[in-house]
Amino acid sequence: MRSVDDDDAKKWRRDVGLDSPFSNTRPAIPRILALLPLGAALTALSICLPSDLRPLAIRSCGIGLGAYLTTVHLVPVISKKIPKSKFGCDLLKRPPRLQIDSKDKTIPESLGLVSGVVFVLALVISDAVEADDIVDAHTLAAATLAIALAILLGFADDILDLEWRYKYALPPLMALPLLAAYNGGTIIRPPTMIRRLLTDTFVGDVSNTILGLFGGSIVPEGLGLVDLGFAYQIYMVLLVVFCTNAVNIYAGVNGLECGQVYVIACSILAMAAVELQNDRSENYTLSIVFLPPFIATTLALLRSNWYPAQVFVGDTFTNYAGMALAVVAILGHFPVMLLLLMAPQLVNFLVSIPQLFKLRPCPRHRLPTYDERTGLLRCSYVNDRMKIVEKDSMNLTLINLVLRIKPMTEPALAATLLVLQALVCAAALFLRFGWAGGIY
Ligand code: UD1
Ligand code: MG
Repeated sequence: MRSVDDDDAKKWRRDVGLDSPFSNTRPAIPRILALLPLGAALTALSICLPSDLRPLAIRSCGIGLGAYLTTVHLVPVISKKIPKSKFGCDLLKRPPRLQIDSKDKTIPESLGLVSGVVFVLALVISDAVEADDIVDAHTLAAATLAIALAILLGFADDILDLEWRYKYALPPLMALPLLAAYNGGTIIRPPTMIRRLLTDTFVGDVSNTILGLFGGSIVPEGLGLVDLGFAYQIYMVLLVVFCTNAVNIYAGVNGLECGQVYVIACSILAMAAVELQNDRSENYTLSIVFLPPFIATTLALLRSNWYPAQVFVGDTFTNYAGMALAVVAILGHFPVMLLLLMAPQLVNFLVSIPQLFKLRPCPRHRLPTYDERTGLLRCSYVNDRMKIVEKDSMNLTLINLVLRIKPMTEPALAATLLVLQALVCAAALFLRFGWAGGIY
């Protein structure tokens, strides 16, 4: 006769999603889903890339493959060396109000350190192999340094649990190598609609006056191109601040941190391949060198972070991954496109503003809540983990808005959010290339 304990264990497995088709305990479906963005990027590379750039792409993918295998091997090895005191509790496998005790599942934190260091080493190899032929070695070195600094400061944050006043100072510090080395232009090309606004209406005169304060202007002969002047440096810092924080606060579900970054990076690689058909500038060749090892190391980390997670990625990962996306967009001159690809993160940031700026109470964790009665995740409320306010209200995140529409298990939620991410990226690429000749 089966014991009550067996039945409980079985019910718990089903409730938290271990039996879900999206769980790593049944890996076929998550693996096929995970290969789709990579497949799309590699297809774009093989169809669109001009023949003289193919050797560069093949070398870069080769370095990526090496980085992938190294990360897959090292993540379990290093995770065993993380001290117990730096383990994190897998919060969505347990009711929120109970004290965390030894029965709870705790797993090693900050394994973004491994994928990050392997990524930096891959970039160093690329830097040595590609030299100055197609990509400027100086630019690649500055990008590598910025990523290395982001890893260092992210890891410091994980280990030292820095207060927010110090955290605010991190992104500008991380952007410093990029600012110091940046010697490209300060001109940006807004989408056609905005360019028309700048050339045909009074908005152009107003913008010109403001830009004049920073030594910039609306380029007279440039049909709405905008020279940001010194404001370009401020814009670079702001993009780094946005990307690092936007990834970090769209988090808390196994696989979501790495998964979102992986989908966005694959989309940028596909975009670069298509662009290189007509535009041979370094803007896009840099993406071809930079992204394959980044995608590879992120995918390797995702294997261990997918539900049920064996490791957490930590702020180390969110910090350097956000930085990497900002770096390719800055050096490739496509910030607006990056924001389109990051629409879910942007929406999550916008709905979070009242809590981020303390206009509404903000608990330490805003991730969803495991509901014991239904066995599903539901949207979380401010008071779920401890009583903070008299009048309770929902935590304002995109994840909670999705759960409000339909509560689901953790792996189903992660898969839903990543499919949403992929659809947004596909729509952004369609907008750029497929619709009425593209928005640019
Ligand atoms: C950000 C979010 C916070 C969210 C947290 C989760 C804001 C302002 N902050 O904070 O609301 O709860 O990320 O990442 O929006 N964890 C899980 N499962 C996961 C990933 C993380 O349970 O799949 C938990 C673990 O206990 C882990 C902890 O979250 O130790 C990591 O949180 P941390 O990255 O330190 O939180 P913040 O980035 O400060
Ligand atoms: Mg975090």
